[in-house]
Amino acid sequence: MEQILNSILAEARTGCEAVTSRAAWEALEARLLGPSGSLTEAMKGISGLPREDRPVYGRRLNETKTTIEGILAAALTGIEQTEQLSRLGPPVDPTLPSPDSGTGSRHLLERVREEICAIFRNVGFTVAEGPEVETEYFCFDALNTPPDHPARDLQDTYYLPEDAVVENVARRDRERYLLRTHTSTVQIRTMLEREPPLRIVSPGRCFRRDTADATHSANFHQIEGLYVDRNVTVRDLKAVLDYFSRSLLGAAVKTRFRPHFFPYTEPSFEVDFHSAHLAKVGSEWTEIMGCGMVDPSVFEAVGYDPDVWTGYAFGMGVERVAMILYGVDDIRYLYQNDLRLLRQFA
Ligand code: DAH
Repeated sequence: MEQILNSILAEARTGCEAVTSRAAWEALEARLLGPSGSLTEAMKGISGLPREDRPVYGRRLNETKTTIEGILAAALTGIEQTEQLSRLGPPVDPTLPSPDSGTGSRHLLERVREEICAIFRNVGFTVAEGPEVETEYFCFDALNTPPDHPARDLQDTYYLPEDAVVENVARRDRERYLLRTHTSTVQIRTMLEREPPLRIVSPGRCFRRDTADATHSANFHQIEGLYVDRNVTVRDLKAVLDYFSRSLLGAAVKTRFRPHFFPYTEPSFEVDFHSAHLAKVGSEWTEIMGCGMVDPSVFEAVGYDPDVWTGYAFGMGVERVAMILYGVDDIRYLYQNDLRLLRQFA
């Protein structure tokens, strides 16, 4: 009997060393402990023993069974671990160098925004921000843009549904919410919050119903500027924009002011830059921004006395500056996150 038990134990040990799969393990378990397994067969043999030998033998049988169960359980754990590892793929060696450094870098648009803001910070401007969802008042009325102005048209502006609820932007009466079409809204918000004199730049996203092509995007970025003080003149505006253009494009840059119309400035101008950089995008003079002297009606809307306060304002497209600085000839490249473009400027 003892010999039989020992050989069953040996069978269990060598069997467990050999099994590598769950199926093989189950077959082994059945062969040892199943209804017609070796140990079960040995149990049946107990009835052929003399009565006094049976208890000892019974105990030995139970011990053997417990031992076999332990060996089987350990083998199963091993198989499960192997299974898990193969699900996870080959083992990872954390000391190996990464196949791709994968280091990110700042996006071109963000860089240009930073660069422009830094230039203005150097001469005392601070950064102010405003919400992207706005009301007609901040986008148009307070900026002296009458209700019949084409910029308010559904064709140009994204309006929110009449019943839209925008918790953090207060509206007057039932005026409509919209996605701001320019950052000039921040001029109004800042002047309502602060007393003059003030000097701010305001970068941010703007939205217009434009079909995307090489030079248009329905969602683009602007940087607004506003300076309010006593005795501000067009000379101050020209001086700061000259300083800006030289800082951005080098001393050889030329600037050109063209008379224009904006409802919130009088007089108003469009500003073109001309430099070697600009040749990259193919035209000699490139329009960079709109600007002008703050219209007295805007000061009235925010409660500044137009007889005391004067100021200038300007607004430029960040994409346009980025395209000029980096020779990008299609605005859509700036939004596609194609690594071939991003890595050129990493
Ligand atoms: N808001 C104008 C636009 O989106 C740009 C602009 C023009 C801003 C004149 C100004 C300004 O502050 O004075 O095209």
